Amino acid sequence: MSTGRTTPIHFPHLQSFVRSKTSSQLVITSLPPVIKSCNIRAAAKQSAGLISSLQTAVNVKYFGKHGGKYVPETLISCLSELEARVNSISNDAKFQKELGDTLRDYVGRETPLYFAERLTEHYKNADGEGPLIYLKREDLNHGGSHKINNAIGQAMIAREMGRRRVVAATGAGQHGVATAAACARLSLQCVVYMGTHDMKRQPSNVLHMKLLGAEVKAIEGSFKDASSEAIRDWVGNLETTFYLSGTVVGPHPCPAMVRNFQSVIGKETRRQALEKWGGKPDVLVACVGGGSNAMGLFHEFVGDEEVRLIGVEAGGLGLDSGRHSATLAMGDVGVYQGTMSYLLHDDEGQILNPHSIGVGLEYPGVGPELSFLKDSGRAEFYSVTDQEALEAYRRLSLLEGIIPALEASHALAYLDILCPTLTHGSKVVVNCSGRGEKDAITFIKYASHDQSI
Ligand SMILES: Cc1ncc(COP(=O)(O)O)c(C=O)c1O
Repeated sequence: MSTGRTTPIHFPHLQSFVRSKTSSQLVITSLPPVIKSCNIRAAAKQSAGLISSLQTAVNVKYFGKHGGKYVPETLISCLSELEARVNSISNDAKFQKELGDTLRDYVGRETPLYFAERLTEHYKNADGEGPLIYLKREDLNHGGSHKINNAIGQAMIAREMGRRRVVAATGAGQHGVATAAACARLSLQCVVYMGTHDMKRQPSNVLHMKLLGAEVKAIEGSFKDASSEAIRDWVGNLETTFYLSGTVVGPHPCPAMVRNFQSVIGKETRRQALEKWGGKPDVLVACVGGGSNAMGLFHEFVGDEEVRLIGVEAGGLGLDSGRHSATLAMGDVGVYQGTMSYLLHDDEGQILNPHSIGVGLEYPGVGPELSFLKDSGRAEFYSVTDQEALEAYRRLSLLEGIIPALEASHALAYLDILCPTLTHGSKVVVNCSGRGEKDAITFIKYASHDQSI
């Protein structure tokens, strides 16, 4: 992979480790002795039991060998305090009522499960047969994406913990907008770190964050550089500041906490499917950046083995080009930003620069729970290229009058490969994780160079 090197400064003494590509044995440095060696096959054997327990567990620390809390000791008490809150809110009727009311009246839930009739027609074969395609309309949420489901919940936790200042990092700007909105509503100070590269690509979201009262701090580079800075800020201001994680990564309890806030997507989908056709979906499809919209949709169905779970990563300019964000397809297991999961790094453990036309998919890691779902074989993961995502962006706009985020367009693009393989009448739910007006300039720029789009 040809990309610039950066030092993973998040937790500097906790560097990544390297797994030999020819061995199932993990070689780990700088980690507690108890996990110095971990056999992947043994972990896979435990998968079946873990899969059933994952569905109900609210606060899981390890997903197979993935997850954990690989952070300096100085952060442990803060993370323990967060963990205690996360545990207590599930039984806190007042918190849950406020969250439910806010999701309904402010965010606009529930989001529709929309039957995409013309898209369904598009994928019919010569005999007029094909799957039925539904879109889970997370693009209709306040702020334009699924990110608000989690931002609202965490901002409420920040308030309860007495932290009046919130820091976040954003790539596409959707998490930044969601966090800025949640903070405005709860009267919390909001600082959003964003890479200069991403600010150029998503200028409308920068403006929206500022309008919502957030201070936007420009960091040389892209999302991974911005997230390093946001974490650095948090680590230096633990007493006053809450780090509002935008996806299902980071040290425990962040992956489970974010997944729980996002799991409303799958819960609604189950109920809506039952109402609409009296059953479950056959296939769920979601794009994968860090993994929060995918886990939000999948989690409810992890125990329903007959429901296929398909995650679509950003193949960028192609997996062989080295310019992609396909962490699950091309990465190795390592430790990054406090958690063990698949990630893109070189043989010396240095994090590689990911690439995608969908800015929000440009992340060199992926959540530990998705990493486990890959290892266990419960979920399938594929990738589509920038070009394919752009074509899907235009296709949905023209056929359904819905402009999807370029991130969500990756999930939609995979329908090209998936649909011809499915039986007539199969029910496919695609998570339309965000709206794509923010990407119109990018699309036009590419379309003007490429007559095929
Ligand atoms: C609309 C949209 N979809 C998907 C993603 C990817 O994030 P995740 O994998 O956490 O859902 C982003 C990230 O910014 C996004 O803005």
